[in-house]
Amino acid sequence: RSAEFPVLLGTDGAPSIDISTFTRQTGHTALDYGFVNTSATKSAITYIDGDEGILRYRGYPIEQLATHSSYLEVAWLLIYGELPSESELAEFDNKIRRHTLLHEDLKRFFSSLPPTAHPMSVLSAATAALSTYYEGESDPSNPEHVELNTIRMLAKLPVIAAYAHKKSVGQAFLYPDNSMSFVDNFLKLNFGVLSELYEINPVMSRALERLLILHEDHEQNASTSTVRLVGSTGANQFSSISAGINALYGPLHGGANEAVLDMLGRIRDSGESVQRFVERVKNKEDGVKLMGFGHRVYKNYDPRARLVKESADEVLRELGVKDPLLDLAKELEDIALNDDYFKERRLYPNVDFYTGVIYKAMGFPTRMFTVLFAIGRLPGWLAHWREMQTDPQTKIGRPQQLYTGSPQRDYPG
Ligand code: MLT
Repeated sequence: RSAEFPVLLGTDGAPSIDISTFTRQTGHTALDYGFVNTSATKSAITYIDGDEGILRYRGYPIEQLATHSSYLEVAWLLIYGELPSESELAEFDNKIRRHTLLHEDLKRFFSSLPPTAHPMSVLSAATAALSTYYEGESDPSNPEHVELNTIRMLAKLPVIAAYAHKKSVGQAFLYPDNSMSFVDNFLKLNFGVLSELYEINPVMSRALERLLILHEDHEQNASTSTVRLVGSTGANQFSSISAGINALYGPLHGGANEAVLDMLGRIRDSGESVQRFVERVKNKEDGVKLMGFGHRVYKNYDPRARLVKESADEVLRELGVKDPLLDLAKELEDIALNDDYFKERRLYPNVDFYTGVIYKAMGFPTRMFTVLFAIGRLPGWLAHWREMQTDPQTKIGRPQQLYTGSPQRDYPG
């Protein structure tokens, strides 16, 4: 492998160029630490050009979808490949409203988990548990089961997420109100009898909807490829998506939005200047990292981050609040983007950099941030799972391994 493409491996054996760019361009496979080779899978769902900072779902620019569409409209687009007609969207929305209730027994399941449980752990456990209620109705090769469970997942994940929130703050679970829109119902489940805030404030609902749309898909990231890999074994949607939620949980993936807010809070509380913090990041002092900055694919401004930043300003303006953490984030961005260290490395804010500030302003606790990412990402996971299942060329996934251990040893004695 290295003889054929010597340029791919540095002297330490680590890849010396961006493997995903190389493999995208040439179609070759290379030694790929950490199963990073995203171009090993073909997909017709999402297009990203990291150099130009372009993201499109089914060909439509993310900026246009985030401005003109609803979360469910984009979900339909990702799953079925076209924007829905008015009647298709209405039917989809109605079906989802009819499936929001969870089995009452799940309440006992939630209460059996420790009160300190992170909402992401609760979310993945409860999603896996859903599978137990639909045995006999979750055969991946049965199109009716696949349709039904697509609807069930879209309807029930937000309810599970809200229960995970309520549990984490020790409050009673609320029942879904199916007369409300997807986003408003979710807000009500989280914040109770809503709040003039959301009822009379479409800016807040729209901001959440926009954030969810921006998270709906992002091609072969860690969680999506997990969903595909697990699904390739013939596992149903509940099990595959639960696995994706676990992959998303880590601070290098969806957990980054929580880590950004923690980082901003630490800078504020330490009294350290932002400039000094940036110096420490550059010198890798105490392992300190600039969370929410840089992306494996984007070597340009993440188009999602630009839209999230606009929403952060809008929401805070609407609420009439000033959040010093937003000012800190902006100062951090300004300093970093004018610094050669970040310029040379082409490090820009990513989607996680500003989202936490908005979620915090909406009243979500920090530990819910990654859960919100999961609700956003669900349509993408479902679309990839279905695309993979219906492709006759799909085989069970099996990452390639280069064996680096002893060739053979004799058992001692
Ligand atoms: C995502 O949206 O999944 C993240 O930006 C991570 C990624 O794409 O690798």
